[in-house]
Amino acid sequence: MFASRMLAFRMKIDVLTIFPEFFKEVFDFGIIRRARIAEIVEINIHDIRSFTTDKHRKTDDKPFGGGDGMVMKCEPIFDAVEKIVGTGERENYPQGTKVILLSPQGRVFKQSVAREFAEEANHIVLICGRYEGVDERVNDALVTDEVSIGDYVLSGGEPAAIVLTDAIVRLLPNALGSETSAVNDSFTGNLLDYPHYTQPREFRGMEVREVLLSGNNAEIERWRREKALEKTRLSRKDLLEGEMKDEK
Ligand code: 6GU
Repeated sequence: MFASRMLAFRMKIDVLTIFPEFFKEVFDFGIIRRARIAEIVEINIHDIRSFTTDKHRKTDDKPFGGGDGMVMKCEPIFDAVEKIVGTGERENYPQGTKVILLSPQGRVFKQSVAREFAEEANHIVLICGRYEGVDERVNDALVTDEVSIGDYVLSGGEPAAIVLTDAIVRLLPNALGSETSAVNDSFTGNLLDYPHYTQPREFRGMEVREVLLSGNNAEIERWRREKALEKTRLSRKDLLEGEMKDEK
């Protein structure tokens, strides 16, 4: 009992957003829901606006130096991190704390980055920036990692916060049931996943490959590996360079 209590909430994720409603139900399904119920992860959504102290509850303002769009103000974000982490000074964060700014300027999120966060962090604060920008002092004093989810522009970091949360939580110990495993996932080696089939054996003239029905595990492994390679060559040739290196 004590040991299992000690293991409760291996990770806490706090999301800072000006659109808390955006997250109303996204973390209530599947693996993330189960991980929350099992107390593997605790996820809290915080409204940045609730940390404003001015009459108009302003979360953004015009950029110094002029230009288009509005910039997210630093005060409410500093106050929020101070309250959630206990300090607004990066040097004083407790070990295992990551304060992540989601922005197109960040390093690109990959499975390897998800693994790094899942292994190293026990407390993650996700700051959802609007695409016009966040006062750079947030980056200078609070942020430990600036992360983008790819080379395209989103109107805000909210969808990216969902992407990171999903990819990280499923890697936490015991998040996937015993029936599933992350070992064979796409990107775990540098290969995409192989194709999957289930009943019926024949559907609208399309038949499941004989080898998958053969019961010959070595043959099945060989076929899957071949298909994974083929798929990767077609969709993501860039991944294969790593795969070839690993084989040498
Ligand atoms: Cl994290 N934020 C925004 N606004 N756009 C993005 C992104 C993040 N990642 C890719 N595009």
